[in-house]
Amino acid sequence: MPRAVTIPVGDREYEAVVGRGTFAGVGEAASAFGPRRAGLVTQHAVSAYADDVEESLVSCGLEVVRCVMGEGEAEKSWETAGSLLERLAAAELHRDDVVVGVGGGAVTDTAGFVAATLLRGVRWIACSTTVLGALDAAVGGKTGVNLRAGKNLAGAFWQPSAVFVDTSAFDSLPRDEVMGGLAEAVKYGFIADPEILDVIARWGDATAADPVHRAEDDLDSVIARGIAVKAGVVAEDERESGRRAILNYGHTLGHALETATDFRLGHGAAIAVGMAFAAELAHATGRIDSDIVGLHRHVLRRLDLPVSAPRRDIEAALPLMRRDKKATRQGLRFVLLEGLARPAIVGDVPEAMVEIAAARVSDPAANP
Ligand SMILES: NC(=O)c1ccc[n+]([C@@H]2O[C@H](COP(=O)([O-])OP(=O)(O)OC[C@H]3O[C@@H](n4cnc5c(N)ncnc54)[C@H](O)[C@@H]3O)[C@@H](O)[C@H]2O)c1
Repeated sequence: MPRAVTIPVGDREYEAVVGRGTFAGVGEAASAFGPRRAGLVTQHAVSAYADDVEESLVSCGLEVVRCVMGEGEAEKSWETAGSLLERLAAAELHRDDVVVGVGGGAVTDTAGFVAATLLRGVRWIACSTTVLGALDAAVGGKTGVNLRAGKNLAGAFWQPSAVFVDTSAFDSLPRDEVMGGLAEAVKYGFIADPEILDVIARWGDATAADPVHRAEDDLDSVIARGIAVKAGVVAEDERESGRRAILNYGHTLGHALETATDFRLGHGAAIAVGMAFAAELAHATGRIDSDIVGLHRHVLRRLDLPVSAPRRDIEAALPLMRRDKKATRQGLRFVLLEGLARPAIVGDVPEAMVEIAAARVSDPAANP
């Protein structure tokens, strides 16, 4: 059964629809705005899913202008956005037309940015085919592309008009991508919705080994709940001035670890270690008891995500974490739990506590 999450943005709202086969509904959602044409941005790797979306759009009477962008983070670029804009402008998309992105976060970020700039802004629909894209990139309104000077340096806050997550697309995702994406769901569980943790903690070995096929309904539920958490936080803080920072739970050390390991450690694995570290830090500073620390380990391990990293990687990450631009402006700040679903932004963490928590996640023997 598909699930729909209503997402408030300013004075309007839109729906995120999650479930198997949901891409068949994109045409109907798009035609509600009265467009004649749809600019469909996608990649070769997901062409089967883009076909489903295109069929749905065509069956609702829309003319589809299909544009295929290259694979990889390097293709999420100013040049790609420019050529997509040229293509859609040449195809005479109008203000009432719609851009539809079908793919992972790289595609939806680019498609959203193109929609934000084409004719000073046209509506867009995000159709996610990755777990990370569904849980993070598609919802929240941050769109953008990379510049040579750095990641996501050109962008716009531009909210989608609808989000579709067709969980049958996860069938073709590598298992690591599924599990890494689910690290974001675990994050939402700890900061706001512990039911997400309960669902994952209940999985037996066989289910946890292949949730895409053995726990379809649970997976839909976890994704819909995660989207609802992100949407709720963003609704309170659309332009990222304060509360949205709680979405960075596990990311302070996680980002530094990604850099320190030259991205050998994927995003999901890095923030998994980052969350284990944040839990140890909250425990060391007297905020949470050891049961909640244990719950971090249990749930992350259920997903085959790491809860510690080699000492040399942690030691390389700590100085990077301290040098982080956001950190140096306001002192080193962490998102720490004061209980389940009780995140706080803490700015006065003693260095000795950071060292204790770092040691706990550096030594696998310390994490029985
Ligand atoms: N806007 C935001 O708030 C936000 C949040 C988080 C991440 N992001 C961005 O998202 C991007 C990462 O997203 P991602 O993890 O989805 O990676 P991605 O979009 O780069 O996809 C990874 C690879 O998987 C392929 N792929 C996608 N779906 C597939 C499927 N169902 N089956 C098989 N292959 C598939 C893609 O073609 C690509 O080659 C980054 O650019 C990141 O900056 C944005």
